[in-house]
Amino acid sequence: GQGYASEAAHATLEFALQDRGLDRVISISQVGDAASENIMRKLGMEWERETAHPVYGRPLRVHAIDLTEFEA
Ligand SMILES: CC(C)(COP(=O)(O)OP(=O)(O)OC[C@H]1O[C@@H](n2cnc3c(N)ncnc32)[C@H](O)[C@@H]1OP(=O)(O)O)[C@@H](O)C(=O)NCCC(=O)NCCS
Repeated sequence: GQGYASEAAHATLEFALQDRGLDRVISISQVGDAASENIMRKLGMEWERETAHPVYGRPLRVHAIDLTEFEA
């Protein structure tokens, strides 16, 4: 609750999209992890799809963002 996760996630997106020039970044969280999802939405990441953990089968949620969306 002191902004650390938001700051770290923002720096990660900056590094990946602007510094390294990746096309897009995805974020994967467990369904029900509202705190992590709030951070993704605040950073402009959009819900993309649900999937399941390949080994443990837990439901997972995928959010994504590209450079244009990040800089908007
Ligand atoms: C999610 C997590 C990374 C947040 O870390 P943090 O440093 O407290 O996050 P921040 O201070 O940057 O929080 C920013 C936003 O997160 C959201 N948030 C934080 N804690 C929250 C909570 N308990 N419930 C709902 N939203 C929450 C809020 O939207 C908050 O923004 P706001 O204050 O403007 O409303 C941390 O709570 C955590 O590690 N949770 C466990 C995740 C986990 O179990 N992962 C295992 C999977 S591998």
